[in-house]
Amino acid sequence: MKKIKFQRATGTHDILPFDQKYFKKVSDILDDVAEFYGFGKLDTPIIEEAELFVKGVGADTDIAQKEMYALKTKGGDHLVLRPEGTAPIVRAYIEHGMMNRPQPIRLYYFGPFFRYERPQAGRYRQFWQYGLEVFGEDNPIADAQLIQIFYGILADLKIENVSIEINSIGDKECRPAYRKVLVKYLKSKASSLCVDCKKRVKENPLRVLDCKQEKCQKIKEEAPQMIDHLCLQCHQHFKKVLEYLDEIELPYHLSPHLVRGLDYYNRTVFEFFTTGPEGKSLALGGGGRYDGLVKLIGGKDVPAIGGAFGVERIIQIIKGGDFKEQKKPKERIFLAQLGDMGRKKTLGMVEEFRKAKISVSESFGKDSLKIQMARAAKVGAKYTLIVGQKEALDESVIIRDMDTGKQDTVKIVDATAEVKKRLKDQ
Ligand code: HAM
Repeated sequence: MKKIKFQRATGTHDILPFDQKYFKKVSDILDDVAEFYGFGKLDTPIIEEAELFVKGVGADTDIAQKEMYALKTKGGDHLVLRPEGTAPIVRAYIEHGMMNRPQPIRLYYFGPFFRYERPQAGRYRQFWQYGLEVFGEDNPIADAQLIQIFYGILADLKIENVSIEINSIGDKECRPAYRKVLVKYLKSKASSLCVDCKKRVKENPLRVLDCKQEKCQKIKEEAPQMIDHLCLQCHQHFKKVLEYLDEIELPYHLSPHLVRGLDYYNRTVFEFFTTGPEGKSLALGGGGRYDGLVKLIGGKDVPAIGGAFGVERIIQIIKGGDFKEQKKPKERIFLAQLGDMGRKKTLGMVEEFRKAKISVSESFGKDSLKIQMARAAKVGAKYTLIVGQKEALDESVIIRDMDTGKQDTVKIVDATAEVKKRLKDQ
């Protein structure tokens, strides 16, 4: 057959009419989940200043060094096609003064990204991501809840065999000491590292742990682990994240060498995998905490956490899957908690209500019941469910009718059914 003159650029793909429905389904599910959890959509431009990523993602990363599509405008601006979504969202968060509003602020996006990578199955040069970002929340429950939300999205998409890999990479207090130990180890193995990693040992040794070359993978296996070098604060933060994940019974694996390929992360990092079409492990998405990024890009010292999924990879898995139209939840209830035990119990309850398609909101990061009740009134909740220390011990919950002020106590296992019944009886 004669070769056609024009073909799409290497590593890009057309989204044909047949495939549009998959993109729509994924974006619809994301819109619903985002709305449920209070994320606002923020679309940033496809082009951004190159410096945003050099600074944000890190000058020594593969993205900044070799994967950006760069252009210089007639006016002399150095722009790039955005290689990822977090740095642009942080830029917009600062630029639109969102740091000065009440926190946390939750934002999400769904759009195309560009990386000059070697194309292969599931890897493109233009690909779509959907991402969730949470600003102004340093409580470890935010880490656990974000992982839970991503896991819930994969469950909604009926994607099976999902594994969650999780690690803590510490912070600027404890990472330098670990870096020294790691460099010492890597230097002792230098002759067996790939050419790129030989350079990385000097410039950015943690990147060696992210190298996909087989010989470097072997060296990685024996490498010292960050988790053994965490400072007290990072250790406690990570312990809490795992406790919350245990509480909601999410099946995670500790992955002591998971570092992720971008420099802005600290503390919790995670990735989601499933089995791809050829039986190979496929990374569906990943993310983590990036508490220093807002400040690095010119804003205040605001903690943040987020993650993103690769849409093509998701679609690859679900093509042919069974979708049912999702109905939007109608009624709103508010979940309030007191103390750590109460918080743990309510985290699991959110999922029960989501499954029952009953709309709930919460302020997990807040400790004061007064503030939480004010928030419940503000969102117009019909019922507020309160789990204090005593209730948590009894596995029970107080249901407060926000109109009459009447309160009843029921067992947590019965709470969803009871609320459903009350909402139906009205
Ligand atoms: P990332 O791990 O570079 O993280 O990308 C997230 C996901 O996007 C990957 O797990 C993969 O599914 C998909 N992806 C990445 N590159 C490609 C490609 N070349 N072709 C197809 N799919 C791809 C980030 O980008 C971070 N910004 C995530 C984040 C958000 N962290 C905090 N907030």
